[in-house]
Amino acid sequence: MMKSSLPLGEFAARRARLMAQLPAGGLAIVPGASMRHRNRDVEYPFRQDSDFYYLTGFNEPDAVLVLLPGRSDGETVLFCQGRDPEMEIWNGYRTGPEGAMQHYGLDAAHPVDEIDKRLPELIDGRRSICYSIGSDEALDNRVRQWLKAVRSRARQGAVAPTELVMLDPLLHELRLFKSEAEIGLMREAGRISAQAHVRAMQQCRPGLFEYQLEAEISHHFAMNGCHLPAYSSIVGGGANGCILHYTENRDALCAGDLVLIDAGCELEYYAGDITRTFPVDGHFSPEQKQLYELVLRTQLACIERVKPGVLWNEVHDLSVHMLTEGLVALGLLEGDVDTLIETGAYREFYMHRLGHWLGMDVHDVGDYRVEGEWRPLQPGMVMTVEPGLYVSPHNEGVEPRWRGIGIRIEDDVLVTETGGEVLSAAAPKSVAEIEQLMAKARQSR
Ligand code: GLY
Ligand code: MN
Ligand code: MN
Repeated sequence: MMKSSLPLGEFAARRARLMAQLPAGGLAIVPGASMRHRNRDVEYPFRQDSDFYYLTGFNEPDAVLVLLPGRSDGETVLFCQGRDPEMEIWNGYRTGPEGAMQHYGLDAAHPVDEIDKRLPELIDGRRSICYSIGSDEALDNRVRQWLKAVRSRARQGAVAPTELVMLDPLLHELRLFKSEAEIGLMREAGRISAQAHVRAMQQCRPGLFEYQLEAEISHHFAMNGCHLPAYSSIVGGGANGCILHYTENRDALCAGDLVLIDAGCELEYYAGDITRTFPVDGHFSPEQKQLYELVLRTQLACIERVKPGVLWNEVHDLSVHMLTEGLVALGLLEGDVDTLIETGAYREFYMHRLGHWLGMDVHDVGDYRVEGEWRPLQPGMVMTVEPGLYVSPHNEGVEPRWRGIGIRIEDDVLVTETGGEVLSAAAPKSVAEIEQLMAKARQSR
């Protein structure tokens, strides 16, 4: 199993920080992911659960981490698959409990098939159990069973916890703020993802299928050490660019259309998330160019606005204002800008939010509001800035020349002490840069 390039101390520090925040007498349970079936006898590639990986760096299926602050026999206990020569012939090497202790800096480790026997013993005497309540029915049931087992031994002196505590807010607040080491990986994920978009621009030509352009992106990821994308790549030519979660990628690309590509690699569990929109034949039409420059102007202004203290929603509101104003100027919307915003009329063209947190999950964890208020940006947060405009091919309310144009421009931005650092800057986005890059690629074919 490939190990993280992050030092073991980084994982130990994360566990220590989480343990310091647990309620007094608390114990935390963090389960890893299991294999999932795709169809008969075929499994999806294994992807460890992000919370679990964040705390362990351990990427085998069916493991469980238990954190027991203050326990003299070891505060960090891992349950994992035991060594099994027969199974390892079929499914590959297992680290096993001894290896886990040796290589992952954990205090104790046991085969996962002993968990039902051992967990009640670990729970006994703890005041609260902290875990992601309600997110996994099987886990909820197991916690109930473990609690029942502790209670059944009350007459022998066992003491069951008196409260269940939701672990997610504590853990996700930690994940929201990226360390220097994490930022290093995210810079690299941004760079590799950006270069993949350059490759797609260079390889694009009419007649290519969307999935073939997707393959160029996947090829670049793999050749740069990223086996898989962070999410299913979206490659939408023409009106397919107006379908926000279009992942079928099955149509041929046509001259005269734009193609929207939303794709990012996953590097050691950290995601890139970039969208570029460019002309299939390398030339923007006048309508495409006008809408594109409106989205780009908006995106640049929003990135400019990113800095500590600015409220999450302020940046989104700026995008709504600029896009609505621009749509009125181009004649796609009619009326007073403020009214169009108040009534939500702009949503016909801009129906998603400006962005989201980015990290180990592409839509990363962390609250957007704190105590009912939009939260201020702080150094160490990473967010996407991704305004878009989508004119449905069926929109009878606009002139036909605008219909079927879908544009999004998305970058990954680290909030720094003084502003924002664009992690995905290596993917060109001005009309001139894109047209030049594509012209050069055509010449050298
Ligand atoms: N790729 C998913 C998103 O941009 O939110
Ligand atoms: Mn995104
Ligand atoms: Mn995206």
